[in-house]
Amino acid sequence: MRPSTQLQSPTGVWFLSQLIHMLSITCAYGTHINAPPSLKVSSESAPELETLSNPESKSTLCTGTASRDPKIFTIPPKVQNGVADARFNMSTPTPQLSVESVSILDAPQLSMINSSVFDWWYFDIVSTNDPRETVTVTFFTSTANAFPWLPTNESSVLIAYLWVSFSNGTVFEDYVPATIATVQEPGTDGTGISGVGNWSSTGFSWTSTNTDSSRYTKVMVSSDKLQVLGEFSLTSTLEPHLPCGVTANISTLEVAPHVGWAALVPDAAGSADITVVGSRLQFQGPAYHDKNWSDRPFVASVSSWYWGHGQLGSYSVVWFSYLALNDPQHREYVSSYVARNGTVIASSCQTDSVRVRPIGSSGTSARYPPKAGDVPDGFHLAFNLGADGWLRANVSGTRIAGDGEYYFRWAGHITGEIYEGSSAANEQDSSCLQASEGGSIVTDEPMMSGSAIWEQFVLEE
Ligand SMILES: *[C@@H]1O[C@H](CO)[C@@H](O)[C@H](O)[C@H]1NC(C)=O
Ligand SMILES: *[C@@H]1O[C@H](CO)[C@@H](O)[C@H](O)[C@H]1NC(C)=O
Ligand SMILES: *[C@@H]1O[C@H](CO)[C@@H](O)[C@H](O)[C@H]1NC(C)=O
Ligand SMILES: *[C@@H]1O[C@H](CO)[C@@H](O)[C@H](O)[C@H]1NC(C)=O
Ligand SMILES: *[C@@H]1O[C@H](CO)[C@@H](O)[C@H](O)[C@H]1NC(C)=O
Ligand SMILES: *[C@@H]1O[C@H](CO)[C@@H](O)[C@H](O)[C@H]1NC(C)=O
Ligand SMILES: *[C@@H]1O[C@H](CO)[C@@H](O)[C@H](O)[C@H]1NC(C)=O
Ligand SMILES: *[C@@H]1O[C@H](CO)[C@@H](O)[C@H](O)[C@H]1NC(C)=O
Ligand SMILES: *[C@@H]1O[C@H](CO)[C@@H](O)[C@H](O)[C@H]1NC(C)=O
Repeated sequence: MRPSTQLQSPTGVWFLSQLIHMLSITCAYGTHINAPPSLKVSSESAPELETLSNPESKSTLCTGTASRDPKIFTIPPKVQNGVADARFNMSTPTPQLSVESVSILDAPQLSMINSSVFDWWYFDIVSTNDPRETVTVTFFTSTANAFPWLPTNESSVLIAYLWVSFSNGTVFEDYVPATIATVQEPGTDGTGISGVGNWSSTGFSWTSTNTDSSRYTKVMVSSDKLQVLGEFSLTSTLEPHLPCGVTANISTLEVAPHVGWAALVPDAAGSADITVVGSRLQFQGPAYHDKNWSDRPFVASVSSWYWGHGQLGSYSVVWFSYLALNDPQHREYVSSYVARNGTVIASSCQTDSVRVRPIGSSGTSARYPPKAGDVPDGFHLAFNLGADGWLRANVSGTRIAGDGEYYFRWAGHITGEIYEGSSAANEQDSSCLQASEGGSIVTDEPMMSGSAIWEQFVLEE
């Protein structure tokens, strides 16, 4: 069945103003209940915050950089009525993201969860030795109306979702609805206070400890209901990847129209140990954490969506390639990320920064633009490294999640090579993938391989 949504008819401004007291995502320092998070770029001027203030709460603003106490956001399970404000940019006065900026990125990006918006925290890990072994956990704050792959019969917008895949191809998948969720920002450098996300009553939570130069995150699952107990950890020295990288003064968080995205941990050394209904899975491999959000339903935005991440040789890669619904020009929205030995060498949303194309031998499996139901055998990736040439890679593997038609998640091998030749040579025909097929293989970098996880959403009929 095609995922569908009812778009909400706009409600009158007057009526909405009467509903402001129902604003849901509250923010507090310690035990004080304060106003919801400001979505302003500047923490100084916050006129929006006045409107967003919960009249029942104290008036201390929850934006302070003056206070080093971590903020605690509380998200109730009930869908809210009202206009949700989304953050789609952030102030980046220096080229390096501060620890405070990272905290903001990992916080809720919407002022409330109404029936047409979504915000979630995504974590995965894939085994280096056998990429059929994976664990994925997503902490959703969304209705099924906004993201139709969520269960339609649950009243809570707080869904903790788990997927575990084993080397024999078995995939375990289940979820638990939460009664309340809390997201606590990590303390700034040196405070030793960890960030926490806790979908209460589910047994699903995460903690993160950030310094200027490193991030350590642990995702924990302890559910009698699902008969699952375990955790996986992510250790990384990479700073978060934003859709277009960190740009002067203000950085965008919008990877495509109405789609917010921040790859908080673009790649990490991961370690998993989890027992699912009596079967224990232990492995090491690349791990990843991002979050994405939107101020409208997923199906109102997306025609096609390719995303993935992986490790090959000394390279860490993240790709995103997207076509918007009802865009006859088929403009490609992309985001490219490549780090080599922990140093970022590409982070861009320029159209020619990365090319992602389906591969497949049968029928329509590899057509582009794709249509719903197309099932590629894999993808070809071409990352533009500027003067360093191109990183060209292929991914192929096994399905680990999805509905088999509109949505797929796979895990498998990524193989790649570095090709010499500056990208300028290819600009003459940047609309054509063949252009990047030129150049010669750099001989001192042999064929590289590793593990990856990737996804496809195709909603275009
Ligand atoms: C929810 O918030 C979004 C984003 O501001 C808005 O477009 C939409 O109309 C809101 N939905 C409802 C039911 O008020
Ligand atoms: C940043 O976001 C705010 C609202 O959240 C908006 O008013 C402002 O125009 C945006 N700035 C840029 C440069 O996009
Ligand atoms: C919703 O449906 C699933 C199975 O389809 C079931 O396991 C779950 O208990 C249901 N939840 C509610 C609240 O009825
Ligand atoms: C999450 O909340 C539960 C209580 O609902 C608590 O027992 C647990 O320790 C919390 N987890 C974390 C990581 O703080
Ligand atoms: C960033 O801000 C500085 C100082 O206000 C200004 O000189 C510079 O032109 C701005 N850069 C951009 C790209 O807006
Ligand atoms: C595959 O492995 C899982 C986990 O060990 C196990 O539960 C399942 O029965 C196995 N399936 C087959 C077909 O062997
Ligand atoms: C958005 O959500 C998907 C689905 O959970 C996730 O796998 C992905 O990492 C997120 N980001 C992007 C840009 O696709
Ligand atoms: C990455 O680092 C390792 C060990 O420090 C080194 O052997 C290797 O040559 C480096 N690779 C690249 C591409 O710089
Ligand atoms: C990717 O696959 C194509 C065939 O589809 C092959 O020609 C190419 O050599 C492969 N490249 C890598 C890096 O594996």
